[in-house]
Amino acid sequence: MLDHLTVVSHPLVAHKLTIMRDKETSTASFRKLLREISLLLAYEVTRELPMTTRRIETPLQEMDAPAIEGKKLALISILRAGNGLLDGILELIPAARVGFVGLYRDPETLQPVQYYCKLPDQLEDRVCIVVDPMLATGNSSAAAVDLLKKAGAKNIRFLCLLAAPEGIARMKEAHPDVPIVTAAVDKCLNDHGYIVPGLGDAGDRMFGTK
Ligand code: URA
Repeated sequence: MLDHLTVVSHPLVAHKLTIMRDKETSTASFRKLLREISLLLAYEVTRELPMTTRRIETPLQEMDAPAIEGKKLALISILRAGNGLLDGILELIPAARVGFVGLYRDPETLQPVQYYCKLPDQLEDRVCIVVDPMLATGNSSAAAVDLLKKAGAKNIRFLCLLAAPEGIARMKEAHPDVPIVTAAVDKCLNDHGYIVPGLGDAGDRMFGTK
């Protein structure tokens, strides 16, 4: 079992994240770095997947070789910023099934409002990895996991780039069974629900909107 919180401590992750945080970093660089970092984070979030063996024949002899057990993974992107992590992870796990959950934060209440949901079938038999770069209040993340559980998912992991202590606590309270993997845990949230020091609005920075 993964711990409830894994902070991926690796020089490449830390270095790339520093460049992403810098407000002078261009949209193109931000997007490229997010893609690169998502590969490194995907490596950690897929640790301890259930394994089996498959009988194969090498050019020299037969062997029982390790293989991932069960149905294809399901990657669930929380729109829109989740898509920035999704692209990189799909390079590593190209056969994964992909779902999308559209949630926006009401700017006044900071509560999530759902506007879209399309999920892969047979979620009960898949390891589901929910992706969203920013775990801020944790309200959207908890709501997305609620949706997945209602759809039958039983084995869920949450992958983000940056997490605030408030979001981690919210997820632990709402979904103690969902391990979180992140590149860093920042200090706190500001009055607008932004992670501090953070990197700003991840969606705006990756898509160049503002
Ligand atoms: N979403 C973002 O994009 N950035 C934050 O700091 C918090 C939520």
